[in-house]
Amino acid sequence: QANERESMYLVSEYANKFFQQQMHETDEGLAIGLSYFKERGFTAETIKKFQLGYSPDEWEALTRAALEEGYQLEYLEKTGLTIVKEERKFDRFKGRVMFPIHSMSGRVLGFGGRILNNTKKAAKYLNSPESDIYHKSKVLYGIYYAKQEIAKEDNCYLVEGYTDVIQFHQSGIENTVSSSGTALTPEQIRLINRLTKNITVLFDGDAAGTRASLRGIDLILEQGMNVKVCTFPDGEDPDSFAKSNSDEELKEYLEENSRDFISYKASLLVEEAKNDPVKKADLIRDMVNSISKIPDSIQREVYLQECSRIMDISENVLYATLAQLQKADG
Ligand code: CTP
Ligand code: MN
Ligand code: MN
Ligand code: MN
Ligand code: MN
Repeated sequence: QANERESMYLVSEYANKFFQQQMHETDEGLAIGLSYFKERGFTAETIKKFQLGYSPDEWEALTRAALEEGYQLEYLEKTGLTIVKEERKFDRFKGRVMFPIHSMSGRVLGFGGRILNNTKKAAKYLNSPESDIYHKSKVLYGIYYAKQEIAKEDNCYLVEGYTDVIQFHQSGIENTVSSSGTALTPEQIRLINRLTKNITVLFDGDAAGTRASLRGIDLILEQGMNVKVCTFPDGEDPDSFAKSNSDEELKEYLEENSRDFISYKASLLVEEAKNDPVKKADLIRDMVNSISKIPDSIQREVYLQECSRIMDISENVLYATLAQLQKADG
């Protein structure tokens, strides 16, 4: 219902203002929230631009303030800002630093909230729940700030996390978005597809990041888009790398290390399966499987040739494998 959704947007916008005001205008917010973001290397300008905030370490700071302002509990609950349990009300994001999540047109749809103390047992990030205004599979964090630059650069950098997006924008790479908290979905890729046909996947330099990048590649290829991959040194993510290098060094690193998905997959082979024919065969099948997702037949052919060259295996065998896969697919 349109009215209900409008009420949910309004209370989300109120919460967004509240979290920012709490961070910039209270002692607790300044000492805990703002100093956290500054320690992460975010400038005052960046903090304002991304509307970062702080949710006080009290059970119902936001809930009480919003009710006093005349917002209804129903919408606080529907947006997940307030959790209602047996007549008691709790702020979902108590004691966390806040990242508002915007739609393509800049409306606040939900939030990510990061815990301040990594040693606590609670999840590092809490996110707003799926709701009538927040459909996680259709949202990309940072898209509102990135859309113009994605079109202008005709390329989109896709990272894993909130802070990766923010640190990249601060470093002058503003064509950056993230799927934040969900595995990449076809709808998210479609959002990018409206702006550019080119995606560069920049996932964390760890096992989880590698796995996520491999899943992402096939989804991107299926939509007829071009995909490159740029990896980071072990244990680094785009945020930490951008923070510890100058803007020029970052730009250079991205230019020198972005390669197409075939050569990325081949590089995995070097690390994993150098002298193991069985693993090598698996990886070649995996590469051909990715190639089979490409809708355009000329492009498929070009990639098969590249695969043949890199993997030192005859094109004929690759064609036969491709044909088998396509037959199995129906
Ligand atoms: N994430 C999440 N819930 C978690 C952990 C992660 O929703 N418990 C999402 C967040 O959007 C996070 C992204 O997955 O930004 C990537 O996770 P990770 O690499 O672990 O976090 P970073 O973004 O690197 O977070 P930080 O640098 O703040 O530690
Ligand atoms: Mn809906
Ligand atoms: Mn990670
Ligand atoms: Mn990370
Ligand atoms: Mn990180």
